[in-house]
Amino acid sequence: MKELKICDLTDLEEASPRRIEIEGKKLSIVLLNERIYALDDICSHEDVSLSEGEVDIDECALECWKHGSLFSLETGEALSLPATKSVKTYEVRIIDNDVVLVVE
Ligand code: FES
Repeated sequence: MKELKICDLTDLEEASPRRIEIEGKKLSIVLLNERIYALDDICSHEDVSLSEGEVDIDECALECWKHGSLFSLETGEALSLPATKSVKTYEVRIIDNDVVLVVE
């Protein structure tokens, strides 16, 4: 297991997805209600960037901008059609002002 710094905490804005590339992974990073979530950035329905979508605060989900599928920030589960497959989620920690991705 290793920890990779992905950004400073102060780089993130509440409910505003940020696209990060690190070690070949493209991730959407979301700060919401004092928690940070990391999901694969590519929608499971088509090859588009989820970080260009909007956060649904009530559902704690990220909405794909292209066809509107919601993906749970907690689990990556596709909560609405047309996407049916989950996207991968990652563990993120905050260490001082660093946002750190935990990879196995
Ligand atoms: S491309 Fe994301 S829901 Fe269709």
